[in-house]
Amino acid sequence: MSLVNFRSYENLSLEFPEGLILLEGANGQGKSNLLEAAYLLAIAKSNRASADREMVNSQARAVPHAHAQIMADLTLADGDVRLQVDFSVSGASLAPSSESEARFAETATFHKSFRVNGVGRRASTVVGILNAVMFRAEDLELVYGTPSVRRRYLDILISQLDDRYLRSLQRYQKILAQRNHLLKRIRQRSASSDELQFWDVELVAEGAFIIEQRANALSSLNAIAAPLHSELGGVDDRLELVYRPSVDMPPEITVDIAAEILTEGLTEERDREIAQGFTTLGPHRDDVEPQIDGMEASAYASRGQVRTIVLAMKLAEAEHLKIRRGQEPVLLLDDVLSELDANRRALILDKASLYQQCFITTAESDIIGPERLSRMNRFDVAIGSVRPVPTTTQ
Ligand SMILES: Nc1ncnc2c1ncn2[C@@H]1O[C@H](COP(=O)(O)OP(=O)(O)OP(=O)(O)O)[C@@H](O)[C@H]1O
Ligand SMILES: [Mg+2]
Repeated sequence: MSLVNFRSYENLSLEFPEGLILLEGANGQGKSNLLEAAYLLAIAKSNRASADREMVNSQARAVPHAHAQIMADLTLADGDVRLQVDFSVSGASLAPSSESEARFAETATFHKSFRVNGVGRRASTVVGILNAVMFRAEDLELVYGTPSVRRRYLDILISQLDDRYLRSLQRYQKILAQRNHLLKRIRQRSASSDELQFWDVELVAEGAFIIEQRANALSSLNAIAAPLHSELGGVDDRLELVYRPSVDMPPEITVDIAAEILTEGLTEERDREIAQGFTTLGPHRDDVEPQIDGMEASAYASRGQVRTIVLAMKLAEAEHLKIRRGQEPVLLLDDVLSELDANRRALILDKASLYQQCFITTAESDIIGPERLSRMNRFDVAIGSVRPVPTTTQ
């Protein structure tokens, strides 16, 4: 992997071995930045940046025509692939004049572009070439957070397996925006409600497909997550991720059934939607409820139990990708070890070692234990650099 002007890295080029890779270093040294780079290549989106410019090195940003890049040469089951993301200043009109350079550094917007084997590609067609699953300490949000967090969990998982799903999601978002705009115009009496018919058909066409895909993914995930959860928690309590679509659906959901129910729902809700000026039904309102023995985890489970649920959900995501793709995802474990007791730390490391490549960050490598540490590929991360830990000290 090589990084140019990405976050804290001005220039880095490194070869990572297979197996467990331990990225060690004090807080703020750039460990998570490395995982973010890998994640970005896989998902075509950062797991934490809200704007692309944040990811461009702050020193480099001050220079006109600043450029940043992440590149990785991957050995995948179906051959070798080079993935690349470039960040460049968007819009020629933004080129700075000398007196406005300082301001430019503060305001320039960047956009990212993707290449696969040197050929430019749209972001949506890059997702799924390299599969990745990231675990972070913040992932407790999967249970405690808003429904959007759980929708994203499902959407990223399914998108990595099927680019039709990602395209359908993108179309759905556009249709939703148009339909909401129309609802507002109808409310203001500047459009007629007859115009809704067209957008309802469009919304249902994409929406029913998304609902069916989510229901299918959840049933596969449950089959994997429940036994993982029992093993990790050392209990028989059954974990189930229950689909909660915005309209009640029967247990067996097909595209046709979802389309029919969604259409009926939209007809029933029409007046209310016009009054509110936005679309109240559809996959943008779906949720997934993690339950333990039929009880809502967010309300009843302890924090430690929630941690176990989240680990099971993440490992299930990885396992599902592995089974469906016939290719193991890269695991990215950011700061999760210190949150776990020794027992579960050992279990997670055992599970992670079954994958071809797993990156683990930690600020305290002592918690791992000398025997396990000696079997890991250790790297020392310090601002701007990543160096193998010399074997004499391993
Ligand atoms: N665009 C950028 N340009 C330069 N430096 C950046 C940029 N974005 C982030 N950084 C720097 O990267 C560092 C944070 O990196 P990162 O989040 O990877 O740390 P970490 O090693 O994971 O720390 P922790 O152990 O606290 O999680 C900070 O020093 C921050 O200033
Ligand atoms: Mg970090």
